[in-house]
Amino acid sequence: MSNALCERLGIEFPIFAFTHCRDVVVAVSKAGGIGVLGAVGFSPEQLKEELDWIDEHIGDKPYGVDIVIPQKYEGMGSMSAEEMEKELWKMVPQEHLDFAQKLLADAGVPAWPDGTTTMGLMGWTDATATPLLEEALTRPQCVMIANALGTPPADKIKLVQNSGRLIGALCGRVKQAVAHKEAGLDFVVAQGGEGGGHAGDVGSVVLWPQIVDAIGDTPMLAAGGIGNGRQIAAAMAMGAAGAWTGSLWLTVEEAHVEEAQRQSLLNASSEDTIRSRSWTGKTCRMLKSEWTDAWDRADTPEPLGMPLQGMVTSDGMRRTHTYAGVGDCQSVAFNPCGQVIGQINEMESCRSVMFRLLDEYVDAVEKAGSMLPKV
Ligand SMILES: Cc1cc2nc3c(=O)[nH]c(=O)nc-3n(C[C@H](O)[C@H](O)[C@H](O)COP(=O)(O)O)c2cc1C
Repeated sequence: MSNALCERLGIEFPIFAFTHCRDVVVAVSKAGGIGVLGAVGFSPEQLKEELDWIDEHIGDKPYGVDIVIPQKYEGMGSMSAEEMEKELWKMVPQEHLDFAQKLLADAGVPAWPDGTTTMGLMGWTDATATPLLEEALTRPQCVMIANALGTPPADKIKLVQNSGRLIGALCGRVKQAVAHKEAGLDFVVAQGGEGGGHAGDVGSVVLWPQIVDAIGDTPMLAAGGIGNGRQIAAAMAMGAAGAWTGSLWLTVEEAHVEEAQRQSLLNASSEDTIRSRSWTGKTCRMLKSEWTDAWDRADTPEPLGMPLQGMVTSDGMRRTHTYAGVGDCQSVAFNPCGQVIGQINEMESCRSVMFRLLDEYVDAVEKAGSMLPKV
């Protein structure tokens, strides 16, 4: 299953695991794939701690870091992070803050211990993502950077490539993939609309081959809907250079997740997910809930743009994750995941997921090969 991209990254199998959990990064990289740590929710200080831990535990294996610099967002410009946050708060209606807090209180989700009701701007802008990127680039074993939600700015592409690392970005449309290639990115992650987190509306089986055709020799990593080796075989048959997975790692043994949240995910069917703007301001696939319903009604506030909606809801993200099993928390919890969650029904270790994917992949390829006429 190895290919040129594997050789370039120093990995055995082109299986990429996007995760917010450092233990998953380490376990997947040790099992021959590559863990990619999602950095958007960390402050630069927290990211430093996470990367210190990864460096201590990962041995000689490589890993990646994912940041979020959207193509477009409210308040875009050259302000410092502090100035921007001040300006952005002026654009947040009190009605939205009150509505979010009421939904959490009605579901019995405990308040945050220090009484704060927001985590602030987080890493959702160029200004706040840059210190995260700079921290990642101090780590020799961080061999790749990925960006969500748009082509990274030219100075960031140069910075990463000049450091000898690869940089790529996610996309859900052919024209975004072409823009990534034209900007000189080293790889493109093509995420179909069934994928977890921010997702467009074109399905993977339609999107992947179109993007492969459009970007030629730039490697395409297939994302959205991969939970077993048969799905990896399908992606590779369509020209993918690897499988980029997210939902698969939400419920593994190594994931730091409260039991109630893990159970919500394990019990969910594919039909239980929805694309909603209610948490981040951009369409994000997640478990449907009273929260997603509430923000969708005609008589309730319209979700704001990114990053304003995230400033309103960040308190809900941390509270519903921390107090996942308290009160009726799961009815309003932030549970981003893709439709593939319907085929993830039991907790596995990262190592056993990796072995399973490889076994299933080989079986699927052999089965397809056996249908060829014998010469
Ligand atoms: C909980 C969750 C959070 C995500 N957050 C990010 C993110 O911060 N940055 C990013 O590039 N992709 C993010 N994604 C998307 C994943 O990188 C990946 O493309 C997606 O999960 C693939 O689809 P799948 O869920 O069907 O495997 C997230 C996905 C999930 C499930």
